[in-house]
Amino acid sequence: MRRIAIANQKGGCGKTTTAVSLTLCLKDMGHRVMLVDMDPQGSATQCLCPDRRSLEHTVLDLLADSPETKLSDVVIDVDDGLVVLPSDIVLSTAEQVLAGRPGREQRLKQILDNLNGGFDFVIIDSPPNIGLLTFNVLMAAEEVIIPVDPSLFSLQGVAKITEALDLLERVNGHRAISRVLATMYDSRTRISRELLSTLRTRYPQACFKTIIRSNITLKESTGFGVPITYYRASRGFADYRSLASEILGNDPTQKSIEVATIANYLAPRRIGGGILFSYVDANAQEVLVEGDFNNWDGNQDMLLDVDSKGLWQRVVALKPGKYSYRYVVDGVQTLDPNNPVTEHTEEHGLVSIIEI
Ligand SMILES: Nc1ncnc2c1ncn2[C@@H]1O[C@H](COP(=O)(O)OP(=O)(O)OP(=O)(O)O)[C@@H](O)[C@H]1O
Ligand SMILES: [Mg+2]
Repeated sequence: MRRIAIANQKGGCGKTTTAVSLTLCLKDMGHRVMLVDMDPQGSATQCLCPDRRSLEHTVLDLLADSPETKLSDVVIDVDDGLVVLPSDIVLSTAEQVLAGRPGREQRLKQILDNLNGGFDFVIIDSPPNIGLLTFNVLMAAEEVIIPVDPSLFSLQGVAKITEALDLLERVNGHRAISRVLATMYDSRTRISRELLSTLRTRYPQACFKTIIRSNITLKESTGFGVPITYYRASRGFADYRSLASEILGNDPTQKSIEVATIANYLAPRRIGGGILFSYVDANAQEVLVEGDFNNWDGNQDMLLDVDSKGLWQRVVALKPGKYSYRYVVDGVQTLDPNNPVTEHTEEHGLVSIIEI
């Protein structure tokens, strides 16, 4: 039984859409799946169980260990091989209900440990913050998918989840393996292309090959009354089928999306009377470029300008030709992560190379 959590503290990055779609795809592929809704917003519950207006029992009864509540009282059978462990707004009282109880961040793990098989996958949706509920989710999961929509807050959310995983490893000795999923990707927008490029550079192993594209049917159909068959027919859903295939260890069914163009997008390129140098880092204080064109003297004239999203850029007046260069990020010499071409030099060690 694989336990996969979907988590990112950034709101609206596609956690619930991913949890629900992945659940449906895995079920369609013949696997037995339980979706655990650990978000008090209850969106995944409403999506898969739209006819349940009020719930007699929720996952909170199990977390609180109410002696009279059994798992079978709480789960909702949605379809053959698909059940939901539902939640509603009352789950937001979990902090108070579980206050002071020892091992309170391990309650969900204990519940899942007692399932004794029965399911091939448990998919866990989580709330947009890092508190007791998310700690329960990360303790219970062996794998975490971090959806990242095109925004820097979402990217920062990856670092936050990683910090939470570090903390749980130190305190409880448990660490789930995390992977990053680009969601709501729109190749027409610069932020989408840049973010994907950053994800692939920063997390080369952990980034799913599948990309979830922005899709209007997915947007319209997350829950709220749209029949699941309509939802399943959408192109957006096909992206989730590709994700499910990748999770099962197969090749993604999606055709590779514009990776070459994206990789080149931030590499130095000719613009106007010079060459545009670009570097992405939302946390850096100062980025400059140095190279053979300025005698490797990264002085203040070579500072890059930053925009509000952490994209650093500068046009350097250079004729077409071959140049070696490097960025200096807060005083640290850094190869260009968006340019795979490097060369070893006697004097300067490893440097990035462009020929324009
Ligand atoms: N690939 C997509 N294309 C277009 N719209 C999308 C896509 N994925 C999700 N959405 C829409 O974006 C919104 C946020 O998605 P979703 O509810 O899945 O995010 P979330 O991370 O679960 O949000 P929250 O943090 O509030 O729980 C929803 O309106 C959803 O329909
Ligand atoms: Mg959600």
